Amino acid sequence: MNEHLHWRYTTKKFDPARVIPPEEFSFLLEVLRLAPSSYGLQPWKFVIVRQPHIREKLKEYSWGQSQVTEASHLLVFCARTRIDDQYIRKHIEHIAKIRNVSVDSLKNYEKGMQNFVVSQTPQELADWIKRQVYIPLGMLVAECAHRKIDASPIEGFEVAKVDALLGLPDEGVTSLAFCALGYRAADDRYAGLQRVRFEATDVFIDR
Ligand SMILES: Cc1cc2nc3c(=O)[nH]c(=O)nc-3n(C[C@H](O)[C@H](O)[C@H](O)COP(=O)(O)O)c2cc1C
Repeated sequence: MNEHLHWRYTTKKFDPARVIPPEEFSFLLEVLRLAPSSYGLQPWKFVIVRQPHIREKLKEYSWGQSQVTEASHLLVFCARTRIDDQYIRKHIEHIAKIRNVSVDSLKNYEKGMQNFVVSQTPQELADWIKRQVYIPLGMLVAECAHRKIDASPIEGFEVAKVDALLGLPDEGVTSLAFCALGYRAADDRYAGLQRVRFEATDVFIDR
């Protein structure tokens, strides 16, 4: 049964006294690192916000959402702002090294990626990159549920202010979503609410 997926919900009130043990948190970071992406390009970075004063600012920029400061940990999911030939070449060289093959043997793969990138308008490319970043976010939320860790994805924040605060332009990325991680407060009133979901007949199409 999907007991853990019924257990999970988007936690709005965290217990600030409960901290995710370091080995559990490291495991969750590996979930992000191992997420799949189109062409394996991994067009993302994840900010681990460790400094309390930065979390206070991020709370301010997300309309005071208390999860941002009260959860055990806070991650910011970021998308690359560009993918160019140089980035693709780096990826090819990485594959060649890890798999012990020549860069030349990956020529067609490299060309395929380059062709895809140039076939996109800048807006299409930016949208495509951003879609990739939701894959690790989804995997994280599911994995947290398995491990009885609460997760709260948050898109409601002022992107320009967050990017400036975290120095993201220098990293070549922009912020897309936060994910607050920790343990629900005993009195979070959202915990008792029924999941609101369409019926299977509404979302699955048989052909
Ligand atoms: C990408 C994403 C962004 C979200 N942003 C916010 C947010 O800014 N604030 C918030 O309270 N909930 C946010 N949510 C939580 C959703 O409202 C929630 O997942 C949805 O209502 C279903 O409820 P459940 O997760 O408790 O089952 C977000 C969820 C996702 C997946």
